[in-house]
Amino acid sequence: MNAMKKVVLSGIQASGKPHIGNYFGALRQFVELQNTHECFFMIADYHALHTLKNPVQLRENIIAVLLDFLAIGLDPKKVVLFKQSDISEHTELTWIFDNLLTMPYLMRAHAFKDAEAKNKDVNVGTFNYPVLQAADILLYSPDVVPVGADQKQHIEISRDIAEKFNNAYGETFRIPDALILKDAGVVPGTDGRKMSKSYSNTIPLFAEHEEIKKCVMSIVTDSGEGIPANVYAIHKLVRPEVELKKIYAEKTGKYKELKELLVEDLEKFIAPLRERRKQFERDIPGALAILKEGGVKAKAVAGKKMAEIRQKVGVDIY
Ligand code: ADP
Ligand code: TRP
Repeated sequence: MNAMKKVVLSGIQASGKPHIGNYFGALRQFVELQNTHECFFMIADYHALHTLKNPVQLRENIIAVLLDFLAIGLDPKKVVLFKQSDISEHTELTWIFDNLLTMPYLMRAHAFKDAEAKNKDVNVGTFNYPVLQAADILLYSPDVVPVGADQKQHIEISRDIAEKFNNAYGETFRIPDALILKDAGVVPGTDGRKMSKSYSNTIPLFAEHEEIKKCVMSIVTDSGEGIPANVYAIHKLVRPEVELKKIYAEKTGKYKELKELLVEDLEKFIAPLRERRKQFERDIPGALAILKEGGVKAKAVAGKKMAEIRQKVGVDIY
């Protein structure tokens, strides 16, 4: 590890197609940070199991996130790209953390509360999700964890867990900070709610032109005169607001024209990403080799930390 550089870790669940909310909320920061920080970016495949029980789909999703990482410009020479399940220390540490936490504490997590409100049979993986995430993070001693605003609580839980462990066994973990972009912590979807795979209100990050058009035309606009707030909120991600304010003032009430301009601007932004992704799709074995090699590098860091943890909790007796 380079002692001079600050360390970054973040992850994306292998649960489906990324959207522009993921990009502007989280992924964009990954690309910027790779030039200044020592970075670990992880595909959270074990996390995806809490909702996905289809091995064919899971394999496809893992490869898809890997291609997404490469297509947005993460450079394997600069960053470590790996998948969670290659590093058994993540699940091992989860067990140790479990014993420092109470059920009522984890029952306060938003994701658990939401799942419980919708579905009576919440699985233990969903309940324990934040604990695995804390292990993902703390094994690499990051200074910062770049995420969208919806992950704020998960980072707070990770900080709490680090403190609980440090109090119980002595100073072991660095307390990480969340890094949340002010202007794009919550990117709205086509219906004005948070853009999310689970709301079917997304604009996929690698959408073809026709798909972009379809998504934009479906953006909900209010019937009043003036600026269509939902169109504007997405538009400002791909064109500077000084320009936008003028355009929207000139085209008051002309929703169709504004949407057509948004389609054009999104196409300009997405087209090069889409092309890069297609190039990486042509060499899946090459991409997998990058992931495997990243796993070896991540294992070296996590293994060393885990040895310290085993010693602290008292199971290291040889
Ligand atoms: P989703 O909610 O669509 O399932 P994920 O949970 O896979 O998205 O999120 C991956 C990353 O993208 C996380 O860091 C998350 O905070 C961020 N993110 C997701 N949706 C948005 C959004 N609408 N605005 C900003 N960031 C987001
Ligand atoms: N829970 C995160 C999400 O839904 C994904 C994730 C898993 C993660 N492990 C992580 C994010 C560690 C940051 C750090 O987006």
